[in-house]
Amino acid sequence: LERVTVPSVLEMKRRGERIAMLTAYDYPTARLLERAGVEVILVGDSLGMVTLGYDSTVPVTLEEMIHHVKAVVRGTSRALVVGDLPFGSYGESPGQAVRSATRLVKEGGCDAVKLEGGSEMVAAVEAVVRVGIPVVGHVGLLPQSAGRYGGFRVQGKTAAEARELLQGARDLQAAGAFMVVVEAVPAPVGEAISRALEVPVIGIGAGAGCDGQVLVTPDMLGLQEELSPRFLKRYANLAGTIVEAAGRYVSEVKEGRFPEEVHGYAMDAEEERRFRS
Ligand code: KIV
Ligand code: NA
Repeated sequence: LERVTVPSVLEMKRRGERIAMLTAYDYPTARLLERAGVEVILVGDSLGMVTLGYDSTVPVTLEEMIHHVKAVVRGTSRALVVGDLPFGSYGESPGQAVRSATRLVKEGGCDAVKLEGGSEMVAAVEAVVRVGIPVVGHVGLLPQSAGRYGGFRVQGKTAAEARELLQGARDLQAAGAFMVVVEAVPAPVGEAISRALEVPVIGIGAGAGCDGQVLVTPDMLGLQEELSPRFLKRYANLAGTIVEAAGRYVSEVKEGRFPEEVHGYAMDAEEERRFRS
């Protein structure tokens, strides 16, 4: 199978072929997603919430991102791997964005980086693209700055807000972003942004009119039951599967039913006799 590249996702949009993107944070998951046909794997800073147990994405460090990007890259041979720039690693200046993006690509090995923000991120996107690193934009709900609007809230519900998001997406494209993620906006807004841009627009809670979709993998696999945004569809119940399997293991260990003879190693009868004597 052919490698997914920046030009190939642009070509998918031109052909009207929808793009399937999911997050991964480790080697085995990346391998399985690629086997399933996922074209773009995002090592999101959702890492902090879904695998490291932080309350938000804010504490995630660039070092943590690099660590997990490396694992995902080792598990892929075909998917395009995008690494998230975490909070505090790019917002200060275009120079900081370039330094952080360079580390994520050079040390982590991902193909592209993603950062949050619309028009205000134009200078950072331009600077990162200029050094040769492909950039994915992210507008709508921005988890890294959720504190600014008091939590995880739908964005672009008023005409004025929706226009601002559309302008932000246009500006990101003009700055050189090759893809834009749109999170938690009304479906007409997701569709309008997708129509307005030549680069692929990947929605999460942005309706069916986007050029592709992304979900947080542990959430869509039902590994977590606590948080359940409206846009989340659960395709499996891994929490149930794991608790059931681990529970059976616990019972079998306690009852002495595991391990069985087939799980153990035999000993030559004569050696055993000499060992016991
Ligand atoms: O961190 C993440 O997983 C993301 C997606 C939700 C787009 O940014
Ligand atoms: Na993210």
